[in-house]
Amino acid sequence: MSTEATFSRGLEGVIAAESALTYIDGQKGILAYLGIPIEELAEHSTFEETAFLLLHKRLPTRPELQKFTEDLASHRPLPAPIVELLKALPQQAPPMALLRTTISALGHFDPTADDVSLGTLHQKAVQLISQLATLTAAIGRLRRAQEIIPPDPTLPHSANFLYMLTGKRPSAEAARVFDVLLILQADHEFPASTFASLVVASTLSDVYSAISAALGALKGPLHGGASEQVIRMILEIGDPAKAEPYIKERLARRERIMGFGHRVYKTYDPRARILKEYVQKLALQAGDTRLVEIEQIVEKVVIDALGAKGIFPNVDFYSGTVCYYLGIEPELLTPIFAISRITGWMAHILEYLEDNRLFRPTTRYIGPPLRHYIPIDQR
Ligand code: ACO
Repeated sequence: MSTEATFSRGLEGVIAAESALTYIDGQKGILAYLGIPIEELAEHSTFEETAFLLLHKRLPTRPELQKFTEDLASHRPLPAPIVELLKALPQQAPPMALLRTTISALGHFDPTADDVSLGTLHQKAVQLISQLATLTAAIGRLRRAQEIIPPDPTLPHSANFLYMLTGKRPSAEAARVFDVLLILQADHEFPASTFASLVVASTLSDVYSAISAALGALKGPLHGGASEQVIRMILEIGDPAKAEPYIKERLARRERIMGFGHRVYKTYDPRARILKEYVQKLALQAGDTRLVEIEQIVEKVVIDALGAKGIFPNVDFYSGTVCYYLGIEPELLTPIFAISRITGWMAHILEYLEDNRLFRPTTRYIGPPLRHYIPIDQR
């Protein structure tokens, strides 16, 4: 172990892998997948196409996209024992914990679970992207004591999720907004969940273990979870007239305002800029702009106070409100993040295993010097 190795708490600033997937410029507010700006993907692409882009590192041809879409549809139904398992678990357990348990359990029904060859992993990527959405919808249904709704093979991924969750086929607009949300969150370079999945994958363990680790990391409030707190805060404020004093009081108490600030972005998060437009459209369609008015005031007060420090809205500031207008309860926001981000997890695993190197960092030892063992009756 080299004593000269640099130490960085939380690996901050450490480059732990090379990746061709996602480019971020946190100063200029640029995010791109395989070099394609997120704004262009949000405008022209679909979740299926973006998922193919990340997994294969290129845009699909029309027949390839068709095949990928059909593959996703074919995997959507859950094995019957997984449905039984879900029903046997406590329905009010945290949805992320239920998701982690059931993704792990899916591995027991895959006879090739331990096969980590790249061809097989590509198939498992499609299967897991597909089934994680079905699982999330089922968890959402059971939480409300509703029957699980099987997928509709004619619907695309986003519309299918909304259908399985709500029981209603969504409007084209609602399905498109949700699709954009999934595109925006599909990858983000090297956050804790992606890193966790790669640490596990680098041991050549099975992909169910790797994705369970990622879900465990995403579950933590320092990673996923901020969007749920944002929408709860906006609902708690409740009235545009109360927004400014509410935020000013919290800032005076030096409290953090959820949905603001980012380790990488020191300017407006490009994903938040896109979602803000959609939220405004959804509010107008719903004929209820109260939450948007509150958010605009909150945003202005926080930027006036902290913008000079590089604190601006992040993706979580608007993602919760998008889901609120789509009728999705706050408890499901982190699993919905996972529905999208599993694409990035799988893309990074596939990329990393092309040239695998076991993750095994080291610690700086700060314990006692070498000494002799003392028998118990002499202590
Ligand atoms: N509200 C108020 N002040 C803030 C906020 C915030 N949301 N975020 C950072 N600050 C302040 C800090 O108090 C600190 O001030 P100081 O220098 O006077 O002590 C300064 O900005 C720097 O803060 P750090 O914690 O060092 O910044 P870091 O880059 O480590 O934090 C983080 C990033 C964790 C996202 C932080 O901004 C935060 O806690 N935000 C709120 C939670 C949130 O929205 N998380 C979602 C992130 S996006 C995602 O994960 C998808």
